[in-house]
Amino acid sequence: MSLFILFEGVEGSGKSTQAKALKRRFVKLGLPVVLVKEPGSTAVGSASRRLLKHRLDIRIDPVTELLLFNAARSQLIAEVIRPALDKDQIVICDRYAESTLAYQGYGRGLDPNTIRTINEIATGGLRPDLIILPDIDVEEGLSRKGTAATNDRFEREDISFHRRVRQGYLEMGREEPDRWFVIDSTLTKRKISDLIWQKVQRYLPQT
Ligand code: TYD
Repeated sequence: MSLFILFEGVEGSGKSTQAKALKRRFVKLGLPVVLVKEPGSTAVGSASRRLLKHRLDIRIDPVTELLLFNAARSQLIAEVIRPALDKDQIVICDRYAESTLAYQGYGRGLDPNTIRTINEIATGGLRPDLIILPDIDVEEGLSRKGTAATNDRFEREDISFHRRVRQGYLEMGREEPDRWFVIDSTLTKRKISDLIWQKVQRYLPQT
């Protein structure tokens, strides 16, 4: 049985922590699981990640940004995600195409139809079975992220950018409630992890 679970969220939402916690639960059950992070998890992804997040000395055009995230994505799918799903493994992804709709669409203001077209080319139409969105107030999320000196290109965006990103996520969640699981990120880590596990179990074959 293959299963594709995506974690999305604004900065500091706790999604990466929860993605790792979910992976540990699958491992405990002896289920084959792969956890990947976007952009990253391949050589192309890591190179894009350095450019996109850490080259604060260059101005990256929003369309270039859209294409770079999707270049990293198509490579990740070809190299890791597709092969894992083909072997009936569970794939947990920390960010995916929905990040592009939220950040480059709602955040940067690129046309959502253009983004959907590019996302579609990169993903070949591969969509997650379930999208988990730990939701948090953006000020609170950013305050979990440390000092401005260590912040990356996205964390340095102004507060209205982050508010639009959150708004985008919540709108996508409302549009497709069967696919999205929105969860209050101010609950304890343990509680969030338990609620996610309850939800995910519905996607596993009953034994
Ligand atoms: P990362 O350090 O992975 O952030 P986080 O720990 O919050 O996931 O950095 C990824 C950054 O890239 C994050 O700020 C969101 C942004 N991003 C986009 O703008 N568009 C995208 O398509 C993706 C995948 C990420």
